[in-house]
Amino acid sequence: MTEFSSSSEQYRTPISLTVDGERHEITVDNRTTLLDALRDRLAVTSVEKGCGHGQCGSCTVLEDGRRVTTCLSLAVAHDGAEVTTARGLAEGGLHPVQSAFVEYDALQCGYCTPGQVCSAVGMLDELSRGTPSVVTEELTEAPEPTDEELRERLSGNLCRCGAYRGILDAVRSVATANRDKDTSRENLR
Ligand code: FES
Ligand code: FES
Repeated sequence: MTEFSSSSEQYRTPISLTVDGERHEITVDNRTTLLDALRDRLAVTSVEKGCGHGQCGSCTVLEDGRRVTTCLSLAVAHDGAEVTTARGLAEGGLHPVQSAFVEYDALQCGYCTPGQVCSAVGMLDELSRGTPSVVTEELTEAPEPTDEELRERLSGNLCRCGAYRGILDAVRSVATANRDKDTSRENLR
């Protein structure tokens, strides 16, 4: 018969996380979300907790360039991961998406902004790779950064201040510049 141990140690797991280039070794309760590990254990405040259950997108970070909703994911599932937050994107100067947010006045209180920025960066990469969305009509060609595409692809990030117009303008400006760069590279081939 298997003996049940009441020791809580069996529910704790050592993990390593590299956050914005800095490696951390921590032991977490298996139920700890990636969001709580980042904020409460590692004091990373460039990721925000909004709803805590996957509805607002304020906790979005990038893992290997892909968007992750950290409140919905357990930290133990990210052992060895390289996580980038809005702070990491600004290392060595603002990321073009961050500069565009400043230029287009795409924030008010700023609470949703780290998540919006990470989400936009991940989304623009998806767009450059030609990943279709639910509103993409022509699946045999690279999707264009239309407002409909951008709105759909950013629909997981809510802004209680309603700064959506500025956010869309900012992201559109970077998306259009990326598309034009890609087109001129194509023309040089
Ligand atoms: S805090 Fe994660 S989606 Fe709202
Ligand atoms: S700027 Fe305040 S919630 Fe988005």
